[in-house]
This record gives sequence, structure tokens and C-alpha cells, in this order.
Amino acid sequence: MQSSDTIGFFDSGLGGLSVWQEVNRLLPQESTIYLADSINAPYGVRSKEEIIQLSVKNTEFLLEQNCKMIVVACNTATTKAIKYLRAHYDIPFVGIEPAVKPAALNTQTKSIGVLATEGTLVSELFTETSRKFASDILTISQKGTGLVKLIEDGLIHAPETRKLLENLLAPMLAKNIDYLVLGCTHYPFLKHILKELLPPDVETIDSGEAIARRVDYILTQYQLKSASPSPNYQFYTNRSAAMMETFMHDFEMPYAVEYKSF
Ligand code: DGL
Repeated sequence: MQSSDTIGFFDSGLGGLSVWQEVNRLLPQESTIYLADSINAPYGVRSKEEIIQLSVKNTEFLLEQNCKMIVVACNTATTKAIKYLRAHYDIPFVGIEPAVKPAALNTQTKSIGVLATEGTLVSELFTETSRKFASDILTISQKGTGLVKLIEDGLIHAPETRKLLENLLAPMLAKNIDYLVLGCTHYPFLKHILKELLPPDVETIDSGEAIARRVDYILTQYQLKSASPSPNYQFYTNRSAAMMETFMHDFEMPYAVEYKSF
């Protein structure tokens, strides 16, 4: 199959836009197609088989558009499905995992918090990364159950979102964390609320920038970099295009979104 000059992205919904933003900031000349599988969010509570099935469906859609590379802009889908995707499809896949390594390397208090979905926290990849880089660090992990749905439903500023975050952060703050790892691509969109809830000496950290650098590196390796003077950014959702557009406008992504059944 002839590759197009486009990078595909998928997530269980809006979260992967935090990754798309970083990739677009570093590589604005690259054309992209972003798939928000919002109708099936959240992925975090689904079985591995279901997540593989959904990831295959998203991948097939992106391959029909001849994408040259796919960014799995979802920690949960990366931990459960990227191995399968790499084994079955002949294009490069870039995945994302919680930024435990930089947090563990930089913590002064030797205590870090990780907020992620249940699926990510119980995964082999997360266990292995934590064992490798954070075995001498106190890691307080919390499942952010409910947060993805609140974000998808446009309730970032609702009191229940703040309340849920306060409850999730309390045990971490009690253990004197100085880094909070945002281990789900939806959570960077909560940063401004987290800033209000966290003491000034606690930093949030996510993997978006690192993924953008990885995408750049892989494109260079495979000689797939685009030099297009007029890149094209397409966004598809299988839920509400109007809701996604509002969300994107709020976060400085003023692009049109199209509804598609995928
Ligand atoms: N953005 C996905 C992630 O990074 C959210 C998972 C979900 O839908 O629960 O894990």
C-alpha cells in the first residue's frame, strides 16, 4: 500500500489531543488525522481483548486513509494493544506511557504520585517501568476512575471534577509527593485546576513532549518526514462534532471536526 504523507492519531476520545498538540507544536509541517473514539470511552475499565479490538478498528480506519505512521495517543491502549498492532501492521507505531522515569529521577522528596486509568496501572508495562526506574521511590498510584467521562462530557469546570481530584490527591499529598505524573492523555487538560489544588512545590508531568520528540526521531529514521508547505489537520469523532470543536477551541485548537461512524 502506498503511504500518504499523513500521521494518524487515535485515543478513546479527546485526551490524545494533548499529544497531538505537542506533536503539532514540534512538527507543524506534518499533516495529521486525529480519531476520537469517544463513543467507546472510557477504555480504562475495559478488558485487554476489548481494547485490542477497538485499537484494531481505529488502526484500520487510519490505514484506509493511508497513514504513514500511527500515534497511539492513549496510555491504556498503548499498554494493552501496541504489541499486537506492531505485530500485525507494517507501519511504525508510537505509543505513550506515564512519565514515571523523569519523575523518579528528579524527585527530591523521594515520593511521587501517579494518576492513571486502572488499565494502565495494572499493566505489565507500568509495573516494569516502575520496577526499573522507581524501585527506591515511594510511588502513590491512584486510579482516576470517572475523570475521563467528566472530561468527555465537557465537565472540566464542574464542582464534581474538583471534588474527585481533591479526593484522589489527598493520599498523595499526605505522603509529601513533589511530582504528580499525569498518566492518562486526558489529564493534561485538568492542569489549570490541578495548579489550584496542588501546593506550589508539586509539579505535574506528562509525556506529550517526549512523544513529539519520539515521533520526530522515528520519522527521520524511516525517512518519512514531510516538507509540505500546506499541511492538513483533520479531526474525526464518532460522538458529537460540536462538543469536540468547543473543547478544542477552549484549548486553542481552532479546527473543524467532522462526525464519522468508525
Ligand atoms: N486517554 C486515555 C489514556 O491515556 C484514556 C483512557 C480511557 O479512556 O479510560 O489512558
